[in-house]
Amino acid sequence: MKNTLTVTDNRTGKTYEIGIDDGAIKATDLKQIKISDDDQGLLTYDPGFVNTASCKSSITFIDGEKGILRYRGYPIEQLAEKSTFLEVAYLLIHGEIPSKSELQEWVDGITLHTMVHENIKKFMDGFHHDAHPMGMIVGTLGALSTFYPDAKDIFNPESRKKQIFRLIGKMPTLAALSYKHSLGMPYIYPDNELSYTANFLNMLFKPSPSTRYSPDPVLAKALDVLFILHADHEQNCSTNAMRSVGSSQADPFSAAAAAAAALYGPLHGGANEAVVRMLEEIGTKDRIPEYLEQVHTHKKLLYGFGHRIYKNYDPRAKIIKEMAYKVFEVTGKNPLLDVALELERIALSDDYFISRKLYPNVDFYSGLIYQSMGFPTSMFTVLFSVARMAGWLAQWQEEILDKEQGIARPRQLYTGIPLRNL
Ligand code: CMC
Repeated sequence: MKNTLTVTDNRTGKTYEIGIDDGAIKATDLKQIKISDDDQGLLTYDPGFVNTASCKSSITFIDGEKGILRYRGYPIEQLAEKSTFLEVAYLLIHGEIPSKSELQEWVDGITLHTMVHENIKKFMDGFHHDAHPMGMIVGTLGALSTFYPDAKDIFNPESRKKQIFRLIGKMPTLAALSYKHSLGMPYIYPDNELSYTANFLNMLFKPSPSTRYSPDPVLAKALDVLFILHADHEQNCSTNAMRSVGSSQADPFSAAAAAAAALYGPLHGGANEAVVRMLEEIGTKDRIPEYLEQVHTHKKLLYGFGHRIYKNYDPRAKIIKEMAYKVFEVTGKNPLLDVALELERIALSDDYFISRKLYPNVDFYSGLIYQSMGFPTSMFTVLFSVARMAGWLAQWQEEILDKEQGIARPRQLYTGIPLRNL
């Protein structure tokens, strides 16, 4: 078998042989296909990058048809069952499960960097009382880059390590600050004696610095698993933003602000928030057919369904659905669960969804869990961003070290007026 593609340009009758590597042709190999010497050569047109690989990556593998997700080769089901979020973050960034001593150093490094500069608190105070917490995260991540000018030293491994500690360490603190700000309640400082997610719950739900509060271990564990499931998802919209901004050699705080902005949108990280709003709008099981009618006529989306890559049940949705029951044992059943289960049942036997291969995605049940744990809907995407920071950083570092990568700068097909004079 020859790993090449032979193409005939019917405009000129010329034939070209193009190499195939890793199941792809190089877009630049098409440049040689021209109709004249001043022709710039053939381009590929792919809005939304539906069939274009922007990088080579050894971090996350997805088989959308089979519903498979693996980080560094490990199935997501095994990681969710046997690992902690910080181990998985290490795995994503370093490529291997940490040894005991490596894990200790990793956890210590992250824990040491959970505090934020006091001026970040003041910066948060500047936001309007009803500012969306995700907007605050985007703004504050960008602001953090001004606190750490050393983060510009992106080709220095020691500096990168420090910025990775800082970003993973500070994300829960920023998230909790944004939440407390929206409530007008006092900020709670990180407690470095607690685990990553227990500390996060403490900063969020401890009513005041003078009140006792113990995070529920079942909820801390559930949040840890949710973080594992959300930690990376290869070249999604926000990761693409992280890589795209990172490709200009901006510091990782600025790149992460861009990634968080991309995550904010309702078609990406904002979907879990949209799911809960949708379930609240539907309200009762008998109103599901009415809602689906509007989906059939493209007036509404069924949020939490469909995925660019998965054309099968999202493996993360399966784990989350099972975990929902464990969480509800502690918090009490979310009243919207019955609507969600019935909606899923009907949609999975509805021709509209079957023919388009639309299945529940990670967001269909995660919002219900977050709501039951006491998070307002506006915090859902923030939770996603805390977890995804691990993946963003792994992908950013991979890109920085990839000799084949240059500044992300796509081409366009110009369709405007060729030339006119004033
Ligand atoms: N509800 C109703 N129709 C849908 C949905 C949906 N959730 N998703 C796709 N479709 C339809 C779409 O209208 C189109 O129909 P037609 O062929 O008649 O025009 C067809 O299915 C193909 O959809 P598409 O928009 O071309 O698919 P895409 O790969 O560009 O979009 C998606 C993927 C996730 C943006 C989309 O499925 C969607 O909008 N889902 C709802 C939002 C959501 O749940 N997002 C979370 C994604 S998972 C978390 C993450 O990775 O961020």
